[in-house]
Amino acid sequence: MTDRNQENKSNALLLGVMGDPIGHSMSPVMHNIALEAAGLPGMYVPLHVKPDHLAEAVIGAKALGFAGFNVTIPHKVEIMKLLDELDESAISCGAVNTVVIREGRMKGYNTDGIGYVRSLREEAGELTGKQVTVLGAGGAARGIIYALLKEKVAGITIINRTVDKAVQLIEELNTSGAAMQTATYEELEQYLPQTDIFINTTSIGMHPNVDETPVAAEQIPEGIIVSDLIYNPMETRLLREARTRGCRTVGGLGMFIYQGAYAYEYWTGQDAPVSLMHSAVLEALNHENH
Ligand code: ATR
Repeated sequence: MTDRNQENKSNALLLGVMGDPIGHSMSPVMHNIALEAAGLPGMYVPLHVKPDHLAEAVIGAKALGFAGFNVTIPHKVEIMKLLDELDESAISCGAVNTVVIREGRMKGYNTDGIGYVRSLREEAGELTGKQVTVLGAGGAARGIIYALLKEKVAGITIINRTVDKAVQLIEELNTSGAAMQTATYEELEQYLPQTDIFINTTSIGMHPNVDETPVAAEQIPEGIIVSDLIYNPMETRLLREARTRGCRTVGGLGMFIYQGAYAYEYWTGQDAPVSLMHSAVLEALNHENH
C-alpha cells in the first residue's frame, strides 16, 4: 500500500492554467473535482503569468514535469510560437487554449469551439444539415464556425458590425462544402426566417449591459434554437426573450465546461465527468455571487 502511494505521488498529474488575471478562473475547481472523482493523483493550479514571462513560464512548466496546461487571456495567440507542434484545431482557430506535454514535446490544441459545439449538440441535438446564423466574427466566432463546419452544417451566415472581418474569416477557413455568406445587422430580418440555430458570439448583453440584446424579440422565429456564448448573466435578455417565443435556448456555461472536458480527456486519456464538473462550477459561481 505504501509503495503504491509513493509510486502514485511521483506520477501525479501536474496541470494548471496560465493567464493574467487568473484569480477568478473556475478551471481549478472544475479540474480538481474531476481528478479527484477519477481517483487520479494530481493537481490543477492557477498560474498568474504576465505577458513578459510567458516564454519562461512555458519552459518552466515543461521542466517541472507538468502533463499540460490551459492558457487563457491574454496568452492564447502568443503561446502558439512557443510550442513544438500545433493541432489542426489550433491552426484553424489561430489560437491555443490547451497544451499537452508528452515526452518533452508540447502540442497546442484549441478546445473552445469544439467544446461549445459539443454542448450545443448535447442540448439541442443533431447539427448536421442545419442552417446557422452567427453574430460576430472575432476569436470566439472563429472557433465555433470551425467546429460547426466539422459537424457538416448546411450553411452559415455570419453577421458582423464590421462586414470585412466576416468576409476575411470565410476566406481563411476551410468551409468544406457548406454554404457560407455574410450579412449586415440590417439584413438580419431577411436571414432569420431560414435559420435553425442562431448564435450570439458578441458581448452584446453581457454584464453589466444586461438590458442590451442583438435582435428584437419579435424578429426571433418561433421554435428555433437560440444560443448565447455569454454566461454572465447565465440567461441573457436574448435567451429570455427567445424562451418566451418557444425557442430552445443554450447558454454559454456549457462551452466553458466542455472546453475543459476535452482538455481533461487529452491530458488523462479518460472520459471527463462532465455533470460533476458542471455542478462544481455552478456551485462556485453561486458562491462568488453571494
Ligand atoms: P471574442 O474573442 O470574444 O470573439 P473579439 O475577437 O474581440 O472577441 O470579437 C468581438 C466580436 O464582437 C466582434 O465580431 C465585434 O464586432 P466588430 O468586428 O465589428 O468589432 C463584436 N462586437 C463587440 N461589441 C459589439 C457591439 N456593441 N455591437 C456589435 N458587435 C459587437
